[in-house]
Amino acid sequence: MKVAIVSGTVYGTAEEVARHAQARLQAAGFEAWHQPRVQRAELEAFAPQALLVVTATTGMGELPDNLQALYASLRDQPPAWYGLPAAVLALGDSSYGDSFCAAGEQVRELYADIGLREVLPMLRLDASETVTPELDAEPWLDQLAGALRG
Ligand SMILES: Cc1cc2nc3c(=O)[nH]c(=O)nc-3n(C[C@H](O)[C@H](O)[C@H](O)COP(=O)(O)O)c2cc1C
Repeated sequence: MKVAIVSGTVYGTAEEVARHAQARLQAAGFEAWHQPRVQRAELEAFAPQALLVVTATTGMGELPDNLQALYASLRDQPPAWYGLPAAVLALGDSSYGDSFCAAGEQVRELYADIGLREVLPMLRLDASETVTPELDAEPWLDQLAGALRG
């Protein structure tokens, strides 16, 4: 199964976690693909059978800049991915209160709008609680692998 991994990052943590997710899903037998700063055309050309978005939250609950154009494009012109399994891995910091992992929530809204099927509850990794997000993501990534195998 072809799994596209898209990352939204300001300082690089989400990109590191996305890279780790790619390696772990590959080890589990998936064709996992991750391109930092991916363009929509490249993503569609990969023809994903599942989508994982790994995103930080910035500003006051905003998507990182590198995800904004792709997000708007997919929202305004939905791709032919109706029913595709999908998941969100959100990085945030609970000290931001109500906007904790808000970018991840925006991605969940996008999934609902364009008809992607969330196969696992969103993972929230809290920078106030952990300095090892890659390791902390592993059990969830293994659950994701199980959910995608169905
Ligand atoms: C300027 C700034 C604003 C942030 N705003 C939020 C926020 O609104 N909500 C949240 O959950 N985390 C927020 N964070 C925390 C980041 O999402 C978190 O540290 C994340 O791990 C950064 O990932 P990155 O290295 O991929 O950018 C903010 C961090 C910075 C530096």
